[in-house]
Amino acid sequence: MAFDLAWVRSRLPDSRIDWHPSIESTMLEASRLAAAACHSGTIVGAEEQTAGQGRHGRAWHSESGSGLYVSIVLRHRFAPNTLPLVTLALGLAAREAILQATDLVCDLRWPNDVLIQSRKCAGILTQLESSAIIAGIGINVNHSTFPEELTDIATSLRLATHRIHSREQLLVELAGSVDRFCTLLEKEGGEPILAMFSQASSFVHGRRVSVDQGHSSLEGTTAGLNSSGFLILQRDDGTKNVILAGGVRPCS
Ligand code: BTN
Repeated sequence: MAFDLAWVRSRLPDSRIDWHPSIESTMLEASRLAAAACHSGTIVGAEEQTAGQGRHGRAWHSESGSGLYVSIVLRHRFAPNTLPLVTLALGLAAREAILQATDLVCDLRWPNDVLIQSRKCAGILTQLESSAIIAGIGINVNHSTFPEELTDIATSLRLATHRIHSREQLLVELAGSVDRFCTLLEKEGGEPILAMFSQASSFVHGRRVSVDQGHSSLEGTTAGLNSSGFLILQRDDGTKNVILAGGVRPCS
C-alpha cells in the first residue's frame, strides 16, 4: 500500500520529513542534511533502499513497501561520550513504538537489536555526523518472507501477529518515542536508560552468550551494564570483560 505521507505530516507538524520512493541508504541522505544544518528531528525515510546499511558493515534487507526505513537527525545536548547510551535509548524507543502500534512486547539484545521470539524484527545504526547523531532505524513491518540467509534469524511484525500493520502509525509512534527517550537521557543522564534497558532485555543479566569480535569470539555469562552502557561479560575463570562492540549471540 502506498505510504500516506500527508497523514504522517499532519501528525508530526513540527518535523521535516523527506520521503523517497527509492534511495541508496537513508543514512547517506540524513548525513547530507545534517551537514547542511537541518533541524533536530528531521526524518529521512524511503520505500526501499538499494544499499541499506546494517551494523558491522553488513547490508540491511530493505524490501520495497514492506518495512520502515528511516534515519532521524538528533541534535540533543547529550553529555560527552554518551553515544553508547544513545544507542540503548534508541533500542528502548523502537521497542516502545512497536508496543504502542502493535501490542507486541519485544526483547532487546545488547546493544539495540529488537527481537521477537529470538528473531530480529528491527535494527538500529547510530552514527555521529556534523555535530548531530544520525539514528538509522529499520523495522521489518509487513514482510511475509525473507531471503534464505535471513529466514532463521529475522522476523516481521506481520509474521509475528498474522496482521498487516500501518507503517505510518509506527513512524508517528517512533518519532515520539525517540524524542522522549533522548530527552530523558539529555535531562536525567544514563541511569534511567540503564535501568529500563536492563529490565526490558533478557540479555543483560545471567545469559550465556558468545560475543563475536571479528577476529575472535568470547564466551561467558552476561553480568549487567556499566555506567557507560557497555555490556559486562563474566568469563568462566571469574574475570570480567567490558564488551565495547560486537555481535552478541545466545549459546545453545
Ligand atoms: C543493524 O544492523 O541492526 C542496523 C540496521 C539499521 C537499518 C536502518 S534502515 C534505515 C537506515 N538506513 C540504513 O541504511 N540503515 C538504517
